[in-house]
Amino acid sequence: MNNIWLGIETSCDDTACAVLRDNGGFVEILSNCLYSQIDEHKAWGGVVPELASRAHLEKIVPVLRQALEEAKINVEDIGQIAYTQSPGLMGSLLVGINFARGLAKDLGIKCYGVNHLDGHICSALLNSQLSTLNSQLMALIVSGGHTELVLVNEKVIVGKTRDDAAGEAFDKSGKILGLGYPAGAAISKLAKNGDKNFHEFPRALSDANSFDFSFSGLKTAVLRYVQAKGEEFVKEHMADICASLQEAIADVLSLKAVNAAKKHGIENLILCGGVSANYRVRELMAERAAKNGLNLICPSPELCTDNGAMIAAAAIFPVKAKA
Ligand code: KG4
Ligand code: ZN
Repeated sequence: MNNIWLGIETSCDDTACAVLRDNGGFVEILSNCLYSQIDEHKAWGGVVPELASRAHLEKIVPVLRQALEEAKINVEDIGQIAYTQSPGLMGSLLVGINFARGLAKDLGIKCYGVNHLDGHICSALLNSQLSTLNSQLMALIVSGGHTELVLVNEKVIVGKTRDDAAGEAFDKSGKILGLGYPAGAAISKLAKNGDKNFHEFPRALSDANSFDFSFSGLKTAVLRYVQAKGEEFVKEHMADICASLQEAIADVLSLKAVNAAKKHGIENLILCGGVSANYRVRELMAERAAKNGLNLICPSPELCTDNGAMIAAAAIFPVKAKA
């Protein structure tokens, strides 16, 4: 079997293709290319599904060409294809699904539909020792659409958000603060120069035995705070507000993930998804994991947000989260 994989991701607003080589023990990323549609959606304050599918259609071939070029291979060298099957925006998914299936048919090779969340989990395994696959894993998936604690081997969700995802908490709060869309990375950048103890934003459902999350109250608390303090004050203390908001999110995420791993007797904790790019979430998770004797596994920063490499990885690695 040819060991070259093509991974295709089009579930939301990133058109992504990656080429990976499976050396049967070590998976190598030969290229990982992406067209981000952020600029197309920015003006609307969120992802517009029709614009997203149109942009995927326009960009998928150029992104594939770039991925092949960077990997220094021809399209005929691809041995098999993995694509995102679900979850995601239907129109966006369909572009990737049909493109992958058509290309596979044309090349006479197999293609595999994978779960986007499996992809996020496997993005962390791309950097870790493969022996981890023989261990029990707990994963905290934190993205724009999901916040879930998953017992990976058993495919059981032990906790999830009851309302907004952690990425949504960053994005919606950022919108209230006038930081544009999506705001996660902007908040994280501003927070670096701020005081995390400037204001105590609420931590919902923080009792030790609950592994569910709730972030909609946090967004409302930010709105009330901004209304009460006024525009001038907010502008003046933007870095401190961002640091305090980020701390509230990082605190809840790390506390629950570590408690869940301990409760289920699991030593390997994966942190993945777009929000895992956040330095404070990573820092606090690492601190608390170490204190509790847990092994924390995170994707490298460029693999945290949606990408094609994680989709190929989800087809290569024999671990699957709940579909
Ligand atoms: O995984 P992802 O690329 O797409 C989904 O599957 O949703 O995650 C996107 C989310 C957005 O909400 C974005 O604001 C957030 O990840 N994000 C961050 C950071 N970078 C991206 N949130 C906090 N800090 C960051 N540095
Ligand atoms: Zn994602």
